[in-house]
Amino acid sequence: MTHKPLKISLKSEQDTANLAHRLSRHLAPGDVVLLIGEIGAGKSFFARSIIQFSQDIAEDVPSPTYTLVQTYTTRIGEIWHADLYRLGATDEIIELGLTEAFQDAICLVEWPAILGTLTPRDALTLTFKTMLDPNHRQLEMNWSGPSWDDRLAGFDQAALDGSPQNGC
Ligand SMILES: Nc1ncnc2c1ncn2[C@@H]1O[C@H](COP(=O)(O)OP(=O)(O)OP(=O)(O)O)[C@@H](O)[C@H]1O
Ligand SMILES: [Mg+2]
Repeated sequence: MTHKPLKISLKSEQDTANLAHRLSRHLAPGDVVLLIGEIGAGKSFFARSIIQFSQDIAEDVPSPTYTLVQTYTTRIGEIWHADLYRLGATDEIIELGLTEAFQDAICLVEWPAILGTLTPRDALTLTFKTMLDPNHRQLEMNWSGPSWDDRLAGFDQAALDGSPQNGC
């Protein structure tokens, strides 16, 4: 890893939605975003925000806890929203078509640990931590693929604290 992790304080749902909005403007098919954090950390909230911001008419975005994968047509390409919490075995990842989607779609993956060696090397990893304040989340952004360096250059606390249309 050639960069320091980006650490961002999300003091409200609106902060989280603003960050999702900013990130959605930098996403394209072939991008994989791994969403890490305990139950209720805000992984689905973040994914839902990305999907709805990227649609002209925002669809309902239910948590894929039971369906494992939900797919959406958006302005920025097809988005796959996956939740691998209930996945029994790594084989099922291929059966679901997820490894192909990693190439062709934008993939937002909750509970990605089971991916193991199937984890794309150039994925962006977002780790959400809950805080004492129920509306506050601490976010850490990590990546190793060079393609994220430029795209995330403007992502910092100061930019987030401005309006979603400013900065990056
Ligand atoms: N700053 C915040 N960012 C994100 N969510 C927040 C924030 N403050 C409060 N919340 C609330 O926390 C909850 C997060 O739920 P969510 O379903 O996104 O969690 P999850 O990480 O996907 O959990 P699971 O592992 O069960 O799928 C939502 O009810 C959301 O409204
Ligand atoms: Mg979820």
